[in-house]
Amino acid sequence: MADPGSSFPVLSMDREKDTPLDPPSQYARLREEAPVSRMSLWGGRATPWLVTRWEDARTVLAGTGVSSRSSHPNYPSAVADAPEMPPGYFFGQDDPVHDVFRRALTREFMVKRIEALREPTVRIFDRLMDEMVENGGPTDFVEAVALPLPSLVICELLGVPYSDHDFFQSRSKVLIDSAVTGEQKGAALLELGDYLQGLVEDRRREPKDDLLSRLAEQVEAGTFSARDAADVGAFLLFAGHETTANMIGLGVLALLDNPDQLPRLHQGKQELANAVEELLRHLTIAHTGLARVATEDITVGDVTIPAGDGIVILLNSANRDADVFGDPDTLDLARVNARQHVAFGYGIHQCLGQPLARMELQIVLPAVFRRLPELRIAPGQEVTFKQTSAAYGPGVMPVTW
Ligand code: HEM
Repeated sequence: MADPGSSFPVLSMDREKDTPLDPPSQYARLREEAPVSRMSLWGGRATPWLVTRWEDARTVLAGTGVSSRSSHPNYPSAVADAPEMPPGYFFGQDDPVHDVFRRALTREFMVKRIEALREPTVRIFDRLMDEMVENGGPTDFVEAVALPLPSLVICELLGVPYSDHDFFQSRSKVLIDSAVTGEQKGAALLELGDYLQGLVEDRRREPKDDLLSRLAEQVEAGTFSARDAADVGAFLLFAGHETTANMIGLGVLALLDNPDQLPRLHQGKQELANAVEELLRHLTIAHTGLARVATEDITVGDVTIPAGDGIVILLNSANRDADVFGDPDTLDLARVNARQHVAFGYGIHQCLGQPLARMELQIVLPAVFRRLPELRIAPGQEVTFKQTSAAYGPGVMPVTW
């Protein structure tokens, strides 16, 4: 709940101008001096407990004493009067409701099924790069490759026509932007839901071999309603492209800043997989943290968070915790324990799409530099960053090669 005039210290989650790939420098001090403390966020809109250390983050996220439901009055929300997410956006549900949706999708994200998307992903990547090179530079890498690639892949998985990309992209942006009103968010949720519901109804009449058809089957089986299925589809569409697009953009930027690390991408499968984990750790795009409400008194480190209080788990701070990751601010693609990061969250809500995200990043990042070894930020042009988005990444990234 908003606590105007509270005496809690004010925390800005904005990354600093000179270090756009790093979390705010203040987080290091918090981890040392006040690892679990109440802070005033978003202009005093919320005064949750901030959890900044890796071990504490995992304790809270894996514990049973927290809820993800945004309807709670103390749920830490960046947006005033934010609408409650519909049940199909099941990251915002607790078990048993959350479990119904998650279980309905588990098979969709098994490594084997995701592997079937490898070949289409390579094809999509090659086409996008061909087009970018043909059109010539300087050009915006976000618009040319980073954004369309995961969008096309998630459309392929779901069975959503990519020609509607402008529509769902604009609504998706609203859903994770803290600089919009609750009303705008509500409208975006409705529009996306209506759009997906039309597609689910089509699949009920005429099933195809796609995820929406399998959701439609669950509607027929009575697992959930057609509207729930539509909202699940909308959630996946949004979760599946905004996030990975940001990681592709930031990953390329981080590698341009650290050219000495590039050979690690080309050494072998294991080295590449590890390099992607380190980039996920280092860049942690979920930069406004994960929101929860304590449903019982929970002890985190030396602090007891009382039942009913809001909590924000700062993943980008946890991933720079020196107790777990030596020299945490250095990007080291050979780091042995990179995979211990919490960039995909932890516990029951841990990212369902992570095999897909990993597969896309492992394809795209080495291939970009193989194809364009001279890739660089266009001289005299500036990269912008999405500070107010819950998924941090470059807004515009002018490149040449
Ligand atoms: C680099 C890319 C990605 C990152 C960093 C990321 C990060 C996250 C994080 C931190 C959570 C936990 C939310 C919470 O606990 O409140 C999450 C959940 C989720 N993500 Fe991702 N994600 C990525 C890509 C994807 C993709 C490609 C999909 C596929 C469609 C996806 C689908 C989901 C779903 C369905 C959940 C909710 C899981 C649940 O509540 O059980 N994500 N993601």
